[in-house]
Order: sequence, then C-alpha cells, then structure tokens
Amino acid sequence: MTRILGIETSCDETSAALLEGSGDDVSQRSLVILSQDVHRVFGGVVPEIASRAHLTSIVPVVSRALEDAEASIDEVDAIAVTNTPGLIGALLVGVCYAKALAFARGIPVIPIHHMEGHLFATSLEHRDAVPPFTALLVSGGHTMLLDVEEWGLYRLLGATRDDAAGEAFDKVAKLLGLPYPGGRHIETLAREGDPARFRFTRPMVRRNDAPSDADYYAFSFSGLKTAVLNAVKSTGGEEVDRKHIARGFQDALIDTLVEKTFRAASEFGRQRIVLGGGVACNSALVEAMHRRLEEIGAEVFAPSPRLATDNAAMIARAGFHHYYRGERGSLDLNAFASRPLPGLVA
Ligand code: KG4
Ligand code: ZN
Repeated sequence: MTRILGIETSCDETSAALLEGSGDDVSQRSLVILSQDVHRVFGGVVPEIASRAHLTSIVPVVSRALEDAEASIDEVDAIAVTNTPGLIGALLVGVCYAKALAFARGIPVIPIHHMEGHLFATSLEHRDAVPPFTALLVSGGHTMLLDVEEWGLYRLLGATRDDAAGEAFDKVAKLLGLPYPGGRHIETLAREGDPARFRFTRPMVRRNDAPSDADYYAFSFSGLKTAVLNAVKSTGGEEVDRKHIARGFQDALIDTLVEKTFRAASEFGRQRIVLGGGVACNSALVEAMHRRLEEIGAEVFAPSPRLATDNAAMIARAGFHHYYRGERGSLDLNAFASRPLPGLVA
C-alpha cells in the first residue's frame, strides 16, 4: 500500500489531497481545495496576489488534507507536486513547500505536469476511464486533443492556435457583462437562449476537411470571440439578446470541440473518450459529446466539477504513475511557467 500526498498551486486554487493504493488501484482518502475568491474583484487572476494567498494557505490546506484522511505525515510515502505549467510565483510556493516537507521527512518528491494531472482526474471516479482513449482537455489556459495509447504515451493531435476554450468562455462572459470566471454563467444564460437567433461559424470545421490537413484537429476561438463582440455591438447588448448570443456562442464552441474529438476517436478507433479541465463542467458539452460519440459506440467519461477544475487529487494520481516508474525529483527541482507534456510521441 502506497500513500501519496498531492499538492497543487499552479493558479488560483490551493489544494492538497491524500491518495492511497497500489498500481492502478488507487483511492482518494481526502481532497481539500481552497479557491481564491479575491480575483473576482479584478476580473482575472492577479499573479502576485495568487502567490501570496498560496503562502498563507498552504500549511493549513495540507494539514486539513491529512486530518480528513485520518493520516499522519509519517504514513506518507511520497509527495507529488505540480511544477509546470502555471503562474511561476504560484507554482514556486507548492514546489518549495513540497521539497522542504519531503526533505524533512526523508521521502521523495515527484514533479507533475499539471495537464497530465487533468488526464488522470477522471479515472479517480470512473474505473474505465483508462487508456487507450481519446482525451479532450479544456481549461482556462489550455485546449488539447490527445490520443492516449497508455499512461505516459501521449500523442498530441491538436491544440488551440489562440485562445483556450475556457479563456473564450471567460472573455465572452466579460463582453456579456457576466462575472469572472464566466464559463458557468454562460452555461446558465445559454439554457434560456434560442439556438436559431445567432448562428456563429464553427471555427476550423469545414465539410471537406481531411486528416492530412494541418488544422484537422486544431482549434481557434479568437475569431468566434470577435463574432460575438460584433453581435453584441449590433444589438446594443440588450438584456433579451444576451441569452441568445450566449447560446449561439456556446453551441458553436461545443460543436467544434465535439467534431474534433469525434474525428480523433474515429481515426484512432478509440472506444473511450475522457474529458478534463474546467470546461468539462459544462453539461451541454458533455451531453453533446455523448450524443455524437454514441454514433461510433464510444463511451464518454467526464469528471465531476470538483475533479474537472484544478485539484490536488489528480496530481497525486499522476504521482502514482511516476512513483511506480521509479521517477524521483531531486532537491534542485524547479518550477517552470511552461513545459511540454512529458511522454509526448510523434
Ligand atoms: O481547469 P480549470 O479549473 O483551470 C485551469 O487550469 O485553467 O479551468 C477553468 C476554466 C475557466 O475558464 C472557467 O470559465 C471554465 O473553466 N469553466 C466552464 C464551466 N465551469 C468552469 N466553462 C464552461 N462551462 C462551465 N460550466
Ligand atoms: Zn487546470
């Protein structure tokens, strides 16, 4: 039995979790997520404030995770910590804390790529959300379509050329006068919208697209954002139009995500689709994905909102994979604002 403490501080959530198990049979004993609400006032994450908030919360958050798991630090075998990608000051808090704690206890520290954490999150809730699968990771900072043959072997099929899917939600929310982060507010507003009132072009989706095309799996959302801006201007952004615009935007974005995922699953013959990242909280996306992928008999696995958004349980889960492969970080382990996903294959 192995116990791994996960620590995540890459953006505006201070999170710690304790997982235990062996091999791929891992269960979550605790998960604490402290969200920094202060950024709402500024309409986006302020890096310096995020780092300072992590500093004040990291000790109580880790203590609470151990307490909730009814475990002591002496029972922990390793510490898995996000060291990339993210806000450098925020990442450094988690990395320095994890290294100090690991050094003091004489246990290893394991660096984890935040996006690999998102890949593992869904498997904590769905036993069948394991490779081989097609993965769509949609968060505030990233949009990635991957073919996952096995854990640690990732073929990156497509990414965004400009804005990430969550970023597009947040920017459009701002245009519509909704609070930050705007994803869930758009989802709520869109529910009452008429899908026929505003029909935006589906970005990078054409009828004659072929797998050999450079943008067959690629995403782009900045043009869609501009189209929304023009629609808002043309209507004066009146209250009655906002819900229809939100609906038109969400439909266009979801159609693109679903179509590209369908292409990847078909091309690679995958029967499982795993969603991850904050945008995977969107139930219209999850439903549309189920409907479309059913056509090829593929099953869609989406995480619950708690595991879709940033959390330390997914970091600890990815930590198990690397721990069993004998990977250990050294005490000169550093944080990096951006690094490619480990295990990428051509
Ligand atoms: O994965 P995440 O928690 O943080 C990052 O690593 O970026 O994702 C946050 C993003 C935000 O852009 C937020 O607006 C979006 O996820 N989001 C949603 C929904 N809930 C959160 N987007 C669409 N619909 C939602 N229900
Ligand atoms: Zn994330």
